[in-house]
Amino acid sequence: MDAGGTHDPVMVDRIVALLAVPGPGPAVLVDATVGAAGHAAALLAASGPEVHLIAFDRDADALALARRRLAAYGDRVVAVHAGYDTLAAHVAPVVARVGPLLGVLYDLGVSSMQLDRPDRGFSFRADGPLDMRMDRESDTTAADLVNTLDEAGLAALVARLGEERFARRIAAAIVRARPLETTGRLAEVVAGAVPARTTTPGVHPATRTFQALRIAVNAELDRFSASLPQALELAAPAAEPGGAGPRPGRGGRIAVLSYHSLEDRIAKRFFSDMAAGCICPPDLPVCGCDRTPAVRHLTHGIERPDPAEVARNPRARAAKLRAVERIAAGPLAGTTGPER
Ligand SMILES: C[S@@+](CC[C@H](N)C(=O)[O-])C[C@H]1O[C@@H](n2cnc3c(N)ncnc32)[C@H](O)[C@@H]1O
Repeated sequence: MDAGGTHDPVMVDRIVALLAVPGPGPAVLVDATVGAAGHAAALLAASGPEVHLIAFDRDADALALARRRLAAYGDRVVAVHAGYDTLAAHVAPVVARVGPLLGVLYDLGVSSMQLDRPDRGFSFRADGPLDMRMDRESDTTAADLVNTLDEAGLAALVARLGEERFARRIAAAIVRARPLETTGRLAEVVAGAVPARTTTPGVHPATRTFQALRIAVNAELDRFSASLPQALELAAPAAEPGGAGPRPGRGGRIAVLSYHSLEDRIAKRFFSDMAAGCICPPDLPVCGCDRTPAVRHLTHGIERPDPAEVARNPRARAAKLRAVERIAAGPLAGTTGPER
């Protein structure tokens, strides 16, 4: 790897098996969270020479690094400095110009490069400004939230987005200690508020609070919920088996690597909603919902990295993979959007 930073791509062989598009013929892949481009590089290496990749990242530093690492692919790579909640606007014109959208990857959350840089303010392990913005052009920092929300608002945020049972104690301690300007000081205040007997060895007591603030600062769940239907709407429906075209039978696939239950729940509900056919009550004589399955599952429930990968790359430990393939043509109207 070059000096720009490292991030080991999680479950990379499985992602390549699910999403790469080998062989001749044009197609489009999307890496919605390109980061250090580990997955993107592996996908392009395993795909045919007419496959284009659209790479999103909200983090300008990550995107610059990804651009450098994928430079050999020239104009087959389109790098977009924007959130994946704007996916349709950027991907639709490329699909119209190049060919069918056959794969979308979401590798959610924060990268090792972001965690390893104290000045980005994501980590409680090194002291830095309380920032946590993935896009440093955006307005609200973690310090803004920590220092301006009232106690009840802070407690609700930490409880909901951190799934933290001591949220009220933590919120009270934060309000007493304000103003807080650094990650180190916040970590100290949170650690002091959580009863020592309840902490898990090896897990910092501020882990959940930092997760909650990061999700809130970056509106992560809202962006993800908004993005999934856009990806599915643009994904190519599977052609008839044996039909014409370079890859008969292959539909557009969406794979999600998530690292905590709130993200996974959004993917799980959206995918199972889209995979469901008729949802009329069984005693209704005629179907009134007109719903047909839009996708088929490619993973049975969740898949996890194997122990060897977790031993090599501890960040993979929490990873959960879900993937689907679009099967039906036509608009997705009549289906409900993702819930949270
Ligand atoms: C886990 S890392 C991805 C690592 C990447 N798969 C690799 O192989 O290096 C997640 C990346 O997603 C980016 N990100 C987070 N939220 C985003 C969003 N809403 N839109 C686009 N990128 C986002 C982060 O800035 C980070 O670089």
